[in-house]
Amino acid sequence: MVQFHCLNPIAACGLELFPDTYEKTEDFNQAEVALVRSAAMHDMDLPESLLAVARAGAGVNNIPLEKCADQGIVVFNTPGANANGVKELVIAGMLLASRDITGGIDWVKANKEDAGIAKAAEKAKKAFAGTEIKGKKLGVIGLGAIGVQVANAAVALGMDVLGYDPYLSVNAAWNVSTKVKHVMSVEDIYKECDFITIHVPLLDSTKGMISKEAIAMMKENVIVLNFARDTLVDEPAMVKALKAGKVRKYVVDFPNPTTAGVENCIVIPHLGASTAESEDNCAVMAVREVIDYIENGNIAHS
Ligand code: MLT
Repeated sequence: MVQFHCLNPIAACGLELFPDTYEKTEDFNQAEVALVRSAAMHDMDLPESLLAVARAGAGVNNIPLEKCADQGIVVFNTPGANANGVKELVIAGMLLASRDITGGIDWVKANKEDAGIAKAAEKAKKAFAGTEIKGKKLGVIGLGAIGVQVANAAVALGMDVLGYDPYLSVNAAWNVSTKVKHVMSVEDIYKECDFITIHVPLLDSTKGMISKEAIAMMKENVIVLNFARDTLVDEPAMVKALKAGKVRKYVVDFPNPTTAGVENCIVIPHLGASTAESEDNCAVMAVREVIDYIENGNIAHS
């Protein structure tokens, strides 16, 4: 019996597929495999028994990769398993930034006792009028599993899509719509686009890449979306740009004190992958990967 310790109950559902061979242990110090979602593992002592860490998600910035490498622990992630969930929320984010849907909903709630609400809505229609995304230029930075899906969905919605990825994989190249125009410099995205969405991993080289200088290059009234990691963006500089009216909206799927409550900042509590389907897909892929490693020595997505 291989001992799995689940740092997140959601990730554990993949284990139900293998009830006879694997069991859960409550004691991390006995664990051979750790299943984790977003919990930060950097300060944890990793037991000698640990053979593998499986991250039910794409990003591995919550895993101490060097410590794992030093202790010979293989780290797995589940790229693509939650891409559809994230893509759908990115599209929703673009629509939320373009149409004041939440303002309209709040207005109805605030006026629910008013017998004349239907008439008053005539005025509200003007107050909450928005713009359409069809025909607007979207720049997608990073064409991995999520970026490709976002780019393709935006094409289907009639957007003019530019894609930037200096490490474009063969898989992404096959899957991305031929209508996506590839640019060789990220500056082209900054300078040309009405919407910019970032889908790159958090690395030393990408941290803060949406810098003060990058924001300065962007078009007036640009809408920026960040469903990847908050520290990819210099958020104090972003908040200044929002206050100055340079950036129209910043949609970010990571709440923190810098952006929470800032006007024109739409902050979501990291819900991109929080769908029943994405959670199942990640959990099942994570467990399958570690089982394939333990039983057959195969290493996928590590
Ligand atoms: C990811 O990296 O894929 C996300 O952080 C997944 C999650 O919400 O757990």
